[in-house]
Amino acid sequence: MMPRPLLAVEDLQIHYATRDGTVRAVDGATFAVPEGRIVGLVGESGCGKTTAVRAIMGVLAENGRRAGGRVCFRDRPIDAGSTRALLWREIAYVPQSAMSSLDPVYTVGAQIEEVLRKRGGASRAAAKARAAELFELVGLSDRRLVDYPHQFSGGMRQRAAIAMALALEPSLLLADEPVTALDVIVQRQILDMLRTLQQRLKLSMVMVTHDISVVAYLCDEVVVMYAGQVVESGPVREVLGRPRHPYTMGLRNAFPDLLSDAMALVPIHGGPPDLRETLTGCRFAPRCPFVQPACTAGALAADVTDDHLTTCRRSAEADTLRTAALDPGTWQRV
Ligand SMILES: Nc1ncnc2c1ncn2[C@@H]1O[C@H](COP(=O)(O)OP(=O)(O)OP(=O)(O)O)[C@@H](O)[C@H]1O
Ligand SMILES: [Mg+2]
Repeated sequence: MMPRPLLAVEDLQIHYATRDGTVRAVDGATFAVPEGRIVGLVGESGCGKTTAVRAIMGVLAENGRRAGGRVCFRDRPIDAGSTRALLWREIAYVPQSAMSSLDPVYTVGAQIEEVLRKRGGASRAAAKARAAELFELVGLSDRRLVDYPHQFSGGMRQRAAIAMALALEPSLLLADEPVTALDVIVQRQILDMLRTLQQRLKLSMVMVTHDISVVAYLCDEVVVMYAGQVVESGPVREVLGRPRHPYTMGLRNAFPDLLSDAMALVPIHGGPPDLRETLTGCRFAPRCPFVQPACTAGALAADVTDDHLTTCRRSAEADTLRTAALDPGTWQRV
């Protein structure tokens, strides 16, 4: 049994208005974050991960708007207005570039203390003490509180951004690509730290990443996005162990394992579609080695078996397709 969802995203649609038309960056995404779990949101660049997370936080770019769908936190619907009250206290966000959550002209300590005092109502002394505690929590020495962001390494900056996000003891942390620019050793240190924090603070977490090996290493659940839609989701062991969507099968071949430098990587040729176009059928079809004529027509239908969702029409044949997907030759044809 899945714990009850802390966050539920239903049929979310996010549109950006541009001079060349409407970009449907998130186009009907549904997923949930169960209490106390780490959910990986994974997919290639441009598939709508950041947009989805920013929409949940109510901090979309100015030309973006929610065109449909619902976001519920603890069973209550939230919108751009009501997220304000939840921000930091209940739901905290580490943006895609840690640099953008840290101001270069103030010391890191001063910034964390500011959050604690302005948003948390802490006294100056309490904020100072709590900032030191938060630094210790993320594995930084409190002597570094007096440093400026540029004096930190990339990994330290991520830790500081995470410390700041945790300042007001949120129950949900949304972290957007927190380890992407870091080397593999530092990546693992940060992921291990996040896992420890999640257990110690009983946090729920959304981990945004384009790297499926990060999901395999850290997450309990995974939501695979493609071109603004969720194409597969479920428990990590199930989805990554026995993927039912060819896109997930392809992603699995395209990333090195975080724990071993094994196997040759097989890329998925081509790229995602233009999200300004009207798209029908399966959006992965043009790149899919298993495409059939029916795949490109009609609406997508989700098949859910044992908490494992896929939108592939051929999911009944998943075992056969999965075997074929392990052969690099399968992916050369497309
Ligand atoms: N402010 C904006 N105006 C117009 N289009 C946008 C805007 N922000 C994002 N997009 C488009 O929306 C789509 C989704 O972008 P988003 O940043 O959410 O993707 P992502 O999955 O986070 O990618 P990445 O892995 O590169 O961070 C892309 O096609 C992107 O070009
Ligand atoms: Mg992004």
